[in-house]
Formats: sequence, C-alpha cells, structure tokens
Amino acid sequence: MKLGVNIDHVATLRQARRSVEPDPVHAAVLCELGGADGVTVHLRGDRRHIQDRDVELLKQTLSTRLNIEMAATSAMVEMAAAVQPWQVTLVPEQPNEVTTQGGLDVILNEGHVRQVVSRLASLHIRVSLFIDPALDQVRAAHKAGAQAVEINTNAYATARGEADRASALKAVEESARMAGKLGLGVLAGHALNYRNVGPVAALPLVEELNIGHAIVARALFVGLREAVAEMKSLLR
Ligand code: PXP
Repeated sequence: MKLGVNIDHVATLRQARRSVEPDPVHAAVLCELGGADGVTVHLRGDRRHIQDRDVELLKQTLSTRLNIEMAATSAMVEMAAAVQPWQVTLVPEQPNEVTTQGGLDVILNEGHVRQVVSRLASLHIRVSLFIDPALDQVRAAHKAGAQAVEINTNAYATARGEADRASALKAVEESARMAGKLGLGVLAGHALNYRNVGPVAALPLVEELNIGHAIVARALFVGLREAVAEMKSLLR
C-alpha cells in the first residue's frame, strides 16, 4: 500500500506568519526519507497555504511523485501545464471551507470534467478524481476519461458507532471494486489517522492512501520523518 503525504498544513503554519518557515520543500524531503511514496499538495484558488513557488520547487526537488489537488478551473489547468506533476487530482473547492467538503460531483459536471480531464491527458498528466464512495460516481469518472479515482473516506472516518462505520467502509470497498473492474487506479483518503487507517489499508484494490493532517499533527511531537515512517508501517 502506497502512502502519499499531504503537506498543506506545513504551509498553513508558514502562512500564519507570512514567513519563510516551515518550508514545505524541506518537509517533502523528510516525507521521502520517512518512506512516503509521493507528496500531495492542494493548490487552492485563494492560495491560503500552498503557493505557486512551492509546487514549482517540489516538482524540481522531489525524487518520488508530485500529486497536485486542484479545482477544475482553466487557471489551475494552466498551472498544471507549466509544472507537469505526476498526477492532478480534481477536487471541488469552496472559498470558505475549512477543508474539502465531499467529493466532486462528476455526474452533475460531466461535460466540464470531461473537458478538463482531456486537456490534462493531452499534457500527459495522469488525472484522478476525488469522489464520494458511490458507484454512479465511479462510473461517471471512468466515462469522463479519468485514469484514477480517490475515494473519499471522510464518512468512514467520522462515523459514530460501529454499524455506521462498517457501512461507510463497505461503501468505500464497493466503489474500489467497481473502479478496479473499470481499470481505474484506486486511491483513498480524507480524515484518515493512525487509529482508523487499518481497515482502509486492508481493503483489496486500494493502491494508495493520501493522508495529511494526522501526519503533520503527529510530526510536531515525533518529527516528520518518524511520523511518516509510523504511518507507512501501519500501511504495511
Ligand atoms: N485527499 C483529498 C482529496 C483532500 O482534499 C485531502 C485534504 O486536503 C486529503 C486527501 C487529506 O486529508 P487529511 O488532511 O484529512 O488527511
């Protein structure tokens, strides 16, 4: 099971003081030393944490893979064209949200998503769509030409009670199976942490998890390299 580490919150801390530290580029090196298989950043329209300079330098310095989460706007597509990351993950984006609120509604936005996916594919950038665990969204992602989906684990992670958690996990598993059947790459993520990651890491067909907040939070106490290594060992 691969681990992509989302380092947005390293930049959040830097931006709290509009300072130069901590630098997400330094963080990315430590993630790689800790065993991360890739680094993820969300370049938001409001640039509240990750900046253009970060993605440019990450692209130049990473020895693993850069995954940029972004809204499906023409400005972001042009940014991706310039940076050429390994993968773009299209996510819905609301200006005042604390974090991404749910998956992309690929069914509702089919025409637009298809257009953006095709432009990114023409640039030889792999495209993943962040979607809620719903079979019709998986089918729509496939129809839109995506190469992969990242299944939203938020409902699983925030479920109260065993029954709700089990049914949320089952929904992730069924979506992963459908995505695998359609030949899509299967990732999962959102709100995963050291306590709840086990059952998701054990799901068949899920190839990679994207985890951010829990790892950066733990890094304050044990260091980033160790925090990543601990998560990576749970995924094994
Ligand atoms: N995947 C996507 C699409 C996200 O938007 C985020 C949060 O930026 C994550 C994964 C990571 O979520 P968390 O920070 O809760 O681990």
